[in-house]
Amino acid sequence: MAQQKIIISRNLKADLKEELNGKTANGFFILVDSNTRKLCLPLLDEEILSKAKIIEIKANDDHKTLEALANVWTFLSQNGASRKSFMLNLGGGMVTDLGGFAASTFKRGIEYINIPTTLLGTVDAAVGGKTGINFNGLKNEIGVINPAESVIINTEFLKTLDKENFLSGFAEMIKHGLISTKEVWKHILEFDLDNINYEALTSLIDESVKVKEEIVKIDPTEKGIRKALNFGHTVGHAFESFAMSTGKPVLHGYAVAWGMIAELYLSFKKTGLDKETLQSGVRFIKENYGALGITCKNYDQLYEYMTHDKKNESDGRILFTLLGGIGDIKINTNVEKQDIFDALDFYRDTVGL
Ligand code: GLY
Repeated sequence: MAQQKIIISRNLKADLKEELNGKTANGFFILVDSNTRKLCLPLLDEEILSKAKIIEIKANDDHKTLEALANVWTFLSQNGASRKSFMLNLGGGMVTDLGGFAASTFKRGIEYINIPTTLLGTVDAAVGGKTGINFNGLKNEIGVINPAESVIINTEFLKTLDKENFLSGFAEMIKHGLISTKEVWKHILEFDLDNINYEALTSLIDESVKVKEEIVKIDPTEKGIRKALNFGHTVGHAFESFAMSTGKPVLHGYAVAWGMIAELYLSFKKTGLDKETLQSGVRFIKENYGALGITCKNYDQLYEYMTHDKKNESDGRILFTLLGGIGDIKINTNVEKQDIFDALDFYRDTVGL
């Protein structure tokens, strides 16, 4: 599978110009959503904008639909796109997922690049080649793995993010710290979330994206080690679905952060994670992410959500990605119901519920 180029950009206009060199002559399209059209498109160079046709879709994950995808295909088709046309996806995970899928399928695939504009998109969705849409109420049900030519990362876009969306993206960076090395983990714990230094953030993002890149390089199609990227997500997705069912949805990264509390505990209990990492991780998440309120009456519902996790095999067992230490990844670890309930008890004790 082709590898994508990751450009940690400190000069967006120059880097983009270089990246687009010779690629805009046969139809050049920029996909935005209603937010990124307003806030992010103006940061691109006038000359580049003058060559592009802009496609706008509605913002938010609930618009990552077949209908929105069809609108993008229609726009491309009616505006003369050919197999040599080029697409730039400018937005968060919703835009890069849907745009990547639209580009990967239009006329059996045109080239595209991603410019992520949220922290979650920057460190996760825009990198690694997963594209797709939600379908029949299921997230990312339809899609392909087809990496962008390049991903241009520039923290200018992140300056308009609110604190909650920033923290949501940062949760994936916490995960990348835990699944990589003690050094990356130390940098995560030292980062000042109350007073963001964007130069320090650029370096931290560089480090974090490299963690994902290295893993995806070895296992692009998630047959094995790519499951490391699911740390925190088995319980995290259950929390996310639970919150949705109560009519009070939470941001993905928050659910993953709370999920990591439970999965750090399971790692401590079942796969030998040291107490110091458990405590430092749990403390950092507790201090920055607050809590999702659950009681023991919700455990069965949460467990039910976990049984539907994509990582499970068809034999009904729930398979977790756990840690034996920082960077010591234990994929496909079966965890029994009672241990999961204990981990939920630990989560509640930790966050003070
Ligand atoms: N979001 C996890 C992955 O890209 O595999």
